[in-house]
Amino acid sequence: MTTPFRLARTAVLFVALAACRSPEPPTQATPDTGGVALDDALAAATKTGNEAEVRRLLALAASTPSDEEIDYASSHLGITMRLLPTVFPPQEAELFVLPFVTDHAAFFAGKTVMEIGTGSGIISLYCSKLGAKKVVATDINPWAIESLKRNAARLGVVDRVEGRLVTVDDMSAYAVIGKDERFDILISNPPYNLDLDSAVNTPEIDKGDLGFSLLRGLDRHLTPGGTAVLFYNSLFYHQLMVKLARHMGFEVRSHNALGISPWEFEALFNLYLGRVLEREHLPKDAFRFDDVEDLLPYALTIEQRQFEPKGNALIDGFQTGKVYRGFLTIRRKG
Ligand SMILES: C[S@@+](CC[C@H](N)C(=O)[O-])C[C@H]1O[C@@H](n2cnc3c(N)ncnc32)[C@H](O)[C@@H]1O
Repeated sequence: MTTPFRLARTAVLFVALAACRSPEPPTQATPDTGGVALDDALAAATKTGNEAEVRRLLALAASTPSDEEIDYASSHLGITMRLLPTVFPPQEAELFVLPFVTDHAAFFAGKTVMEIGTGSGIISLYCSKLGAKKVVATDINPWAIESLKRNAARLGVVDRVEGRLVTVDDMSAYAVIGKDERFDILISNPPYNLDLDSAVNTPEIDKGDLGFSLLRGLDRHLTPGGTAVLFYNSLFYHQLMVKLARHMGFEVRSHNALGISPWEFEALFNLYLGRVLEREHLPKDAFRFDDVEDLLPYALTIEQRQFEPKGNALIDGFQTGKVYRGFLTIRRKG
């Protein structure tokens, strides 16, 4: 399935990506974190309930993964994880995804789970800790798969967690899943920036390979009654997946994302800019919007608006009364 050549190509891609990024590890203090360590800045923002700031800091962590091995103490896993270079930082999952999993622990216990885009492995490992029978986790980053393996050993769940590397030749959702392989639950905190113009997939960018193929193969790869749990967490891609899945006939439940992230503004602005340039007879690459340079807003919030009535359970039988911002669940049709 994985030739050394393919693996090397994927590794080269990630080395290149890592080189483009700031070398500042996300756990260290930077001016952007107010001069304190990122974890401390996150804890402070979480404590004061400043969700937009939490998301800004998480995006900062995501765009500056460490270029060296670092340790991260996970409160949910109860172990210190070893994070390998370029691996997506686990703070976002710890803050947003694992609380959802905790509240639905009985839903995961005894189930077979597939995770798409495992990063450090934190979600798969937690599902396993909560009693999932078997977890298969995929990623396009070889260091993510290695990180999952090492941390599975730390947690003592190697026999129940399997990592599979997705190669550049096929980055669709079930590229490394057998034709008839099925799971009770599919869970993913996927790359949330849909950018059809991107040349590469990255931890943040889905160039169109992943989300749509995920829906197309869902009925084939979920067991009867199976459910997909997705955390897109930025309004455009989240709503697009909700609408597309419903259009395809799936039963979908959704707790809306808090707002639009800058990368979505950038993509949407540029799309419309294309029409403006064409109308004005300007070259189509005359200029572009850039989310950083143009200071496009981070998470323009819609928090004042109630999209989901309280008690809209994302999973049948789990009336937690909470709102899980940015989550959606999709039930297998049959
Ligand atoms: C937002 S990160 C989430 C990582 C981890 N699950 C977490 O929550 O901390 C998305 C992950 O998906 C991986 N990824 C991107 N495109 C992928 C693809 N086509 N197939 C599998 N994984 C992919 C990235 O390398 C990254 O690790």
